[in-house]
Amino acid sequence: MAVSRSFLMVLSLLSLAPLCFSHKGNGGYLYPHFYDHSCSRAQEIVKSIVAKAVAREARMAASLLRLHFHDCFVKGCDASLLLDNRGSIITEKLSNPNRNSARGFEVIDEIKSALEEECPHTVSCADILALAARDSTVLAGGPSWEVPLGRRDSKGASLSDSNNNIPAPNNTFQTIFTKFKLQGLDIADLVALSGSHTIGNARCTSFRQRLYNQSGDGQPDYSLDQSYAAQLRTRCPRSGGDQNLFFLDFVSPTKFDNNYFKNILASKGLLNSDQVLLTKNKASMELVKKYAKNKKLFFEQFAMSMIKMGNISPLMGLRGEIRKNCRRININTN
Ligand code: HEM
Ligand SMILES: *[C@@H]1O[C@H](CO)[C@@H](O)[C@H](O)[C@H]1NC(C)=O
Ligand SMILES: *[C@@H]1O[C@H](CO)[C@@H](O)[C@H](O)[C@H]1NC(C)=O
Repeated sequence: MAVSRSFLMVLSLLSLAPLCFSHKGNGGYLYPHFYDHSCSRAQEIVKSIVAKAVAREARMAASLLRLHFHDCFVKGCDASLLLDNRGSIITEKLSNPNRNSARGFEVIDEIKSALEEECPHTVSCADILALAARDSTVLAGGPSWEVPLGRRDSKGASLSDSNNNIPAPNNTFQTIFTKFKLQGLDIADLVALSGSHTIGNARCTSFRQRLYNQSGDGQPDYSLDQSYAAQLRTRCPRSGGDQNLFFLDFVSPTKFDNNYFKNILASKGLLNSDQVLLTKNKASMELVKKYAKNKKLFFEQFAMSMIKMGNISPLMGLRGEIRKNCRRININTN
């Protein structure tokens, strides 16, 4: 009893730590004009390369948006996600949520090379991820916001935090909400940010359980529209086809709008984690209904929640470094 109580105390202290220290201490706040003097063309360079990549493949907007999320939930928004295996670093790219799934790393590399050419050793990989997420949202038709900047890059990665902190699609509502709260995010953030699933794809393996054996009794998930489920089964069989791709929002798969919430109301949310926002909690149900009815409210909350997510434990001041190559830490040569 005493043990589990002090364990909980430690947990709650840990969850408060980012609010008390990292964000406010160590050289102040992130702010949108951080690169105005040191690299005035930084934002337009990021935007032009993201635009080119999205023109080549519409899905890239979704993939880049997701990278910022998977970065921020692991050691904060510090580009730890971008590090490859090397020396003592174990890459996060092979964690359960990322393996065969996270993508867009080549686009980040291209942006970084262009920025190193324009203003060497100035713009962090963590800020590139935050800007690319915003630009991707705008290019897909979503809201815009000014991105607070000044993050620095980590000198390490955490495979275990990547496995543990990023919610899984079959986590319960409570587990997912707890993982958001541990990052300082609330229910409005959870529901609005889940609205990212208005664009992009998911693999069969991410929702198969719902189609065949939701609760271990051989029955499908009856909170999923059964004709939609039958359609999904044709390309997501009981076994095989793990990597087959499906639209997260089948109505408008590349357009950032509020159809994601309308789909959930029609029992056509693709992932279990999408549908439980309606079925397992009163407050989140109200928010799903609100955003389905009012795209403007969704867009406003999404922009606020993205800024909030982007503020998770940034490295600032003299902490961390500005990587020259987003895939590896700088070699110390002095
Ligand atoms: C609430 C908990 C969340 C869960 C359980 C979850 C889970 C998933 C899963 C399983 C996929 C499909 C991966 C695959 O099959 O390869 C996915 C895709 C995606 N997620 Fe989430 N996600 C969550 C929240 C978020 C948030 C907060 C964002 C962004 C702010 C986000 C953005 C995306 C995007 C854009 C895609 C499509 C990526 C692509 O097409 O490359 N998700 N998510
Ligand atoms: C969730 O999915 C994972 C991976 O497919 C599986 O190992 C686990 O048993 C599932 N959890 C639940 C609660 O169904
Ligand atoms: C469903 O899952 C349970 C436990 O995960 C397993 O024991 C059972 O054999 C599965 N049933 C079917 C029909 O796949």
